[in-house]
Amino acid sequence: MSQEIRILGIAGSLRKASYNRALLKTAQELLPGGSTLDIFELHGIPVFSEDEEQNPPEKVKDFKKRIRAADAILFATPEYNYSIPGGLKNAIDWASRPYGDSAWIGKPAAIMGASLARTGTARAQYHLRQVCVYLDVEVINKPEVMVGNASEVFDANGRLTHETSRKAIQELLQALVARAHLLRTAK
Ligand code: FNR
Repeated sequence: MSQEIRILGIAGSLRKASYNRALLKTAQELLPGGSTLDIFELHGIPVFSEDEEQNPPEKVKDFKKRIRAADAILFATPEYNYSIPGGLKNAIDWASRPYGDSAWIGKPAAIMGASLARTGTARAQYHLRQVCVYLDVEVINKPEVMVGNASEVFDANGRLTHETSRKAIQELLQALVARAHLLRTAK
């Protein structure tokens, strides 16, 4: 494996003008040296069925391959009805199966999110952290990146203009890359 830390960004929204995808694009501008960030899109993943888990669709096979090849995961999740979007949970479930073949185990991860409300996906992020416990994904605790009032803090080109949030994303990325290096050394 190269010395570079490869981060896989997962946007929990399929929306073309998604604020959360825009957060991942912001993260691409703020990466620490020696790290890269590719974005995985969830479009086209069918609803999970345990009957299909031994023979998953190509998109799911690709998703698992991309997770396994990554040194770290960066989730950007919207909040839907106080939780993570069903599409994101569905994709996470696929990649955790079949039993004994989860792609998630031991991955370091960071979570951020943007929403229209002041609370900036706080409730969804705590649900995602809970899911990560069972997945054995090691989530960075701080800083918490909860970007509220999204319609006011992105410009017309989808650029995040809120400097405090940009700084928090930069710090989160530094913590994630440091954790990934640490785990690599420990292997
Ligand atoms: C929302 N939204 C929302 N926002 C929030 O802060 N808390 C919530 O519980 C919800 N619930 C919710 C449910 C559903 C079904 C939708 C479609 C939306 C609004 C949400 O913050 C907004 O649509 C964001 O723009 C979604 O993120 P993306 O798509 O811009 O990344």
